Amino acid sequence: MKHKLAAMAMAGLLTFSLAACSSGSSTQTTAGSTTAAATTKGEDTTTAAATEGAETTAAATTTQSSGEVANKDKPLVWFNRQPSNSSTGELDTAALNYNANTYYVGFDANQGAEVQGTMIKEYIEKNIDTIDRNGDGIIGYVLAIGDIGHNDSIARTRGVRKALGTGVEKDGAINSDPIGTNTDGSSSIVQDGTLEVNGKTYIVRELASQEMKNSAGATWDAATAGNNIGTWSSSFGDQIDVVASNNDGMGMSMFNAWSKENSVPTFGYDANSDAVAAIAEGYGGTISQHADVQAYLTLRVLRNALDGVDIDTGIGTADAAGNVLSSDVYTYNADERSYYALNVAVTADNYKDFTDSTKVYEPVSNQLDASTSPTKKVWLDIYNAADNFLSSTYQPLLQKYDDLLNLDVEYIGGDGQTESNITNRLGNPSQYDAFAINMVKTDNAASYTSILDQ
Ligand code: BGC
Ligand code: CA
Repeated sequence: MKHKLAAMAMAGLLTFSLAACSSGSSTQTTAGSTTAAATTKGEDTTTAAATEGAETTAAATTTQSSGEVANKDKPLVWFNRQPSNSSTGELDTAALNYNANTYYVGFDANQGAEVQGTMIKEYIEKNIDTIDRNGDGIIGYVLAIGDIGHNDSIARTRGVRKALGTGVEKDGAINSDPIGTNTDGSSSIVQDGTLEVNGKTYIVRELASQEMKNSAGATWDAATAGNNIGTWSSSFGDQIDVVASNNDGMGMSMFNAWSKENSVPTFGYDANSDAVAAIAEGYGGTISQHADVQAYLTLRVLRNALDGVDIDTGIGTADAAGNVLSSDVYTYNADERSYYALNVAVTADNYKDFTDSTKVYEPVSNQLDASTSPTKKVWLDIYNAADNFLSSTYQPLLQKYDDLLNLDVEYIGGDGQTESNITNRLGNPSQYDAFAINMVKTDNAASYTSILDQ
């Protein structure tokens, strides 16, 4: 009897989820419309359960998610925004150790920052005969900063200043604050660097830098950067020889608005497909943070925890399907519970190898066997559905890997500024077997874990 009721409830749930998933195994929901979808889903489930009685609810939920696992014990992966203090950068170890199956997946920010800085410096050296547009002996650059409270953004600002000699130490590290404008070189946040090429000494100056945050509070904002280059170029345009950006979203926005037309090399980060294509038109270069490896790791750590296998399966150790990563594309830091993908410069020399940023990484592109890795449900959010990198590179990759790893992922898209807009849509964690979280603000891990604790 109990069995039959459970089966009926299951059938109800199935009908519902088939209706909810319009395309394939993954559901896409974006800000605004999602609230409605999530609520409908909740209601439907409740209605079905209510009809069948309380006993059935438990049975149905159990069948849908994994056994009797409490939400607080389910696998959890943080990705792209590492739980950390946004003023000091200190890691949030409580969040990183939330339970035995908690991890972070990102990329090596310091290594990437160094690669980006070096790429820009080498470009200047190589093009020294033409780069100084007004011939004043000063190589002037402007810098678009993504988020002053985000470790990755801070690292990239430091990397550029370090390589170009414009950094100033503050509390033992290079100051990463925005300077506003510094066309006369008087700023105390940065200094003038020097570069010696072919026996001649040039000054390198950070003319201006700013956090690209829009009035509603969204950071890494491409539109803001596009507007800003207009302001900068109209007041000191011929002093700008190089444009640097913490990411390609902002970089491409500045390139399209001004630098392409004025042949000013512009450098970004992320190797989004549009930025890579723009290298043929004068975009200076970008950095691949190996999103193809990160997206895989994001879902792979959940898969391994759900299957109860060694966490290194399909990562450092080949799985039964032959998936394995080599140590030149990622590192694992056990103390930080963090997987970090390694970065590669993408320039005119090699961009043809990077034209499709959504291509799965070949060594980990083998389908898992559904008998040993059966379908599981994952809740995953993208903190800003409008972010170029996350929406045009990371999410398409996740959607390819979710199929290969037999994960049925529900994608939630945030607005980039309101944490509650996302946490509100984690109203029914019991429906999922695992969680993948991309926070708006790196300090806010507890807003999510407190929901799982209930
Ligand atoms: C990317 C940025 C992106 C940010 C969002 C970074 O890793 O490089 O492009 O906007 O993540 O968190
Ligand atoms: Ca100049």
